[in-house]
Amino acid sequence: MIEPENWITVADRSSVETGSVIAVKAGDVDIALYNIDGQFYATHNICTHAHALLSDGWLEGDIIECPLHGGRFEAKTGKGLGAPVTCDIKTFPVRIEGDAIQVKVA
Ligand code: FES
Repeated sequence: MIEPENWITVADRSSVETGSVIAVKAGDVDIALYNIDGQFYATHNICTHAHALLSDGWLEGDIIECPLHGGRFEAKTGKGLGAPVTCDIKTFPVRIEGDAIQVKVA
């Protein structure tokens, strides 16, 4: 059986400037949406260490730093980069449809 694809429009391309991250929702999933050198990436927005929004943190290149304790992740891969972070963060596929940025959460 083929599952239907579940792409959800979360933002317009113009709403995420290059080098920035915004908070969006895909259904009830909190997403951090990144524009890194004109390419869009999505991770879960809630830090794996405690409850903080990565979209409130700082994006430097492709590294997002959590605002609460300074944990760092690779935004493109979700890889955690050491203490206090012990778990990677989930990433989601992103595609562009016209002006819309879509994320696939399931
Ligand atoms: S909540 Fe993100 S590093 Fe602690």
